[in-house]
Amino acid sequence: HLHAFALDIELTEEEWLAAIDFLTRTGQMCDDHRQEFVLLSDVLGLSMLTIDMNRPAGSGVTESTVLGPFFVDDAPAVPLGGDIARGAPGVPCWVEGTVTDPSGRPLVGARIDVWESDEDGFYDVQYSDGRSAGRGHVFTGEAGDYRFWCVRPAPYPIPYDGPVGGLLQATGRSPMRPAHLHFMVEAPNHHTVVTHIFPRGTDHLDTDAVFGVRDSLIVDFVDEHGGTAPDGREMSGGWSWARFDIVLAPTAG
Ligand code: BEZ
Ligand code: FE
Repeated sequence: HLHAFALDIELTEEEWLAAIDFLTRTGQMCDDHRQEFVLLSDVLGLSMLTIDMNRPAGSGVTESTVLGPFFVDDAPAVPLGGDIARGAPGVPCWVEGTVTDPSGRPLVGARIDVWESDEDGFYDVQYSDGRSAGRGHVFTGEAGDYRFWCVRPAPYPIPYDGPVGGLLQATGRSPMRPAHLHFMVEAPNHHTVVTHIFPRGTDHLDTDAVFGVRDSLIVDFVDEHGGTAPDGREMSGGWSWARFDIVLAPTAG
């Protein structure tokens, strides 16, 4: 395929050298915190193609999407109904749902990791002050139920200060991702799902820089003003809520 491509475009020696230089700079950009090759795979749509091939949609199981570079392994435990924003600025947002298997059997004690940017589009790890905010994990209750407070997700650009950003610019593509909230959901004897939810009707849903949007992951986020939240909290300003039911596939045997 590579030879056919070179023949097809009649690759010159200058173009070959430019490609080697691009890949060299991509490698040089990588360290413990930055994986420019994964980002390259993401913007080429290769990450989503690989996910789609290995986790075909339509089985009733929650669809997967890209992990992204901002997951942190040891995000703090938050009690059911607690606040994973933990100080991240933004409009308070209540998210609730269930985790079940495809037959609807509740998965009790499933671990749900959640992470998100703040309202300015930055993850905690993008600040230099060492803060931990906008992330945490909860465990489902006796009915496979979960709930937490977070902030209403905001759109933001993928890191575009490296070779991948140069590639997007050279091809006239936007680095923006639509607003989303990341989930990683794990339960014993079930396949882990890494996914996001996207608020319906928000910007960039059709032009996600990493092709991560799937229809089944677009969810209604209902905007409210004041009143009583589902956990009985009296709200004075604007807030939102969303529901997302998650289905995990059992592992074989
Ligand atoms: C993100 O959602 O945070 C993300 C995903 C893929 C590449 C860059 C950022
Ligand atoms: Fe993200």
